[in-house]
Amino acid sequence: MSGLAIVTGGARGIGAAIAAALLADGEVDEVAAFDLDINGAEAPAGVTLHQCDVTDEAQVRAVVASLGRQATVLVNNAGGGKAHPERTDNAPGDPFGPVDLFRESVDLNLTSAHVVTRVVGPGMARGSAICNTASIAGLMPNALFAYGAAKAGLIHWTKCMALALAPRGIRVNAVAPGFIYTRLWEQTLPRQMFDQMVGVAVPMASEQTPAQIADSVAFLCSQRAAQITGQVIAIDGGSLLGRAH
Ligand SMILES: NC(=O)c1ccc[n+]([C@@H]2O[C@H](COP(=O)([O-])OP(=O)(O)OC[C@H]3O[C@@H](n4cnc5c(N)ncnc54)[C@H](O)[C@@H]3O)[C@@H](O)[C@H]2O)c1
Repeated sequence: MSGLAIVTGGARGIGAAIAAALLADGEVDEVAAFDLDINGAEAPAGVTLHQCDVTDEAQVRAVVASLGRQATVLVNNAGGGKAHPERTDNAPGDPFGPVDLFRESVDLNLTSAHVVTRVVGPGMARGSAICNTASIAGLMPNALFAYGAAKAGLIHWTKCMALALAPRGIRVNAVAPGFIYTRLWEQTLPRQMFDQMVGVAVPMASEQTPAQIADSVAFLCSQRAAQITGQVIAIDGGSLLGRAH
């Protein structure tokens, strides 16, 4: 099918897998990846890379204007967190962390989806689809305070947008990945500790892969999901269920 998908954070990790899955699914013939860092991109052939900070509306507008066609699929996937090795006031798990870093996380993990959708959404035709990459951190309490709150906000915003855009024939859904050892985790936790955490936290005792997350995103953005809107699918090996006995 002919169509353009925009995938934010599409240069690597889950976003690159989403770009590949959308192309393989055949719902679109072109994927534009918007990413802050396009060096060493993992995105497959057929994906065009656009250097862009998705928290910055002016940058997003400039890149969208350069595409020359309207998107039929938008995946708001960019997120995670910036490493701040220079800071000594942001200990992991501190519920009273600094305000500027709290705002930074909300800006990246929630507000950026509004920024990009505000620019791209008005041009989307009936039958188009939006999918947001949330997290299980947005569905259960955790010690990632700003990140978890932002992802919870993203899930609620997904439902509000689904209701608002239904009359225009545009569907809006979300996925909530569990644990995938991408650069997001590489920056914070050695592989061995990550594996130990997965062993404890995931009933299926396995991490998920970017391709598994991407598969659900491609489904939600396809005509196979034509009657699905305002939903969030957790791809988490059962983590939201609690610990297996
Ligand atoms: N990896 C996991 O275990 C996990 C779990 C739950 C949810 N998620 C979510 O999945 C999404 C993708 O994460 P990932 O694991 O692939 O991480 P990643 O770090 O491998 O990829 C994130 C991509 O987003 C880009 N990005 C970051 N800030 C940006 C900005 N301001 N503008 C444009 N691009 C920006 C990065 O350059 C990177 O290419 C994120 O929203 C993350 O919160 C990941």
